[in-house]
Amino acid sequence: MTLKKILVTGGAGYIGAHTVVELYASGYTPVIIDNFSKSDRTLLEGIEKITGKSLIFHEGDCADRKFLKEVFEKEGDLDGVMHFAAYKSVGESVEHPVMYYQNNLNSLLTLVEVMKEHKVNNLIFSSSCTVYGEPDSIPVDESAPFKKAESPYGATKQMCEQILEDAVRADKKLKVTSLRYFNPIGAHPSAMLGELPIDRPNNLVPYITQTAIGIRKKLVIFGGDYDTPDGTCIRDFIHIVDLAQAHVKAIDKLLGKNEDEHYQYFNLGTGQGVSVLQLVKEFIEVTGVKLNYEIGPRRAGDVVKTYANSAKVQTELGWSAQYAAKDALRDAWAWEKRLRGLTT
Ligand code: WQD
Repeated sequence: MTLKKILVTGGAGYIGAHTVVELYASGYTPVIIDNFSKSDRTLLEGIEKITGKSLIFHEGDCADRKFLKEVFEKEGDLDGVMHFAAYKSVGESVEHPVMYYQNNLNSLLTLVEVMKEHKVNNLIFSSSCTVYGEPDSIPVDESAPFKKAESPYGATKQMCEQILEDAVRADKKLKVTSLRYFNPIGAHPSAMLGELPIDRPNNLVPYITQTAIGIRKKLVIFGGDYDTPDGTCIRDFIHIVDLAQAHVKAIDKLLGKNEDEHYQYFNLGTGQGVSVLQLVKEFIEVTGVKLNYEIGPRRAGDVVKTYANSAKVQTELGWSAQYAAKDALRDAWAWEKRLRGLTT
């Protein structure tokens, strides 16, 4: 039996790399592309250590049509694509909106065209809970409308989903599943793989671990005066391994017989709302390390509170999160320590 081959764009990034590990574990052959614009080779080495495989990898930009066509031609028999390659920072997108639209839209548009030319019809798309804007009620389920996005990043994900829905309507062969991530955190339990921002981190957990280890002086919690129980924002923090495993369930389903619904979308979250301050306190409790933090001003573009209703993905894909936030924090800390040479 030939193993199913899946192109993974952004496979050297945080979510992509963890998903590559889970794809191998489930008998798929991932083909990675990455341009290292927001990543480096460290995570590829981590994948190799965990899986013992030598990776199939092509370096290049997903929006580079010539490069992408060459990959499709060379690999020949791709069964599907997982599209992770995108910019993902809410705060950065407020400062550099055009760069976000340019990158996130062009890579998807180019990919969909090249897939069509090469008759590759199965796509898993990395979407985001930011498509809901500030939801009217929480937990938010998939029937919630796309309200105005709070950030250009969120707007790019709304636009990408619209593009895909239209593309699927026009092309009966194309099948797409969009996975709307809540807040992925943590690291592989082996500590061989984790989040590795190439510059100053924008996301909360790498900022926490880098502060705890002494790279950053202080964690600033963005806003302590929101209308929430402790005044800080509320998120649904999901362990990266849980999130990665959901992708395998999604591609299994997509490649199986599924004639009716060609555009599908699922929330990926735990269903638990946790405040930023709660998460910080939990980190201190779980790791026993000191953390220098203070409450500062709000960050532009932030949704105040959101967490998932994950009933749909549980029913239709048979997936639910297995890890708790404290597991993710413990694993993130083990990864940070290993990365900085504090453990062997
Ligand atoms: C979380 C909370 C910050 C840093 C993420 C992804 C995005 C998307 C949704 C998919 C916010 C606060 C942060 C810091 C802080 N989905 N914070 N101090 O913005 O919720 O978006 O999830 O992947 O791609 O990036 O995540 O980690 O930036 O922030 O107080 O130094 O932590 O204000 O309330 P966000 P985040």
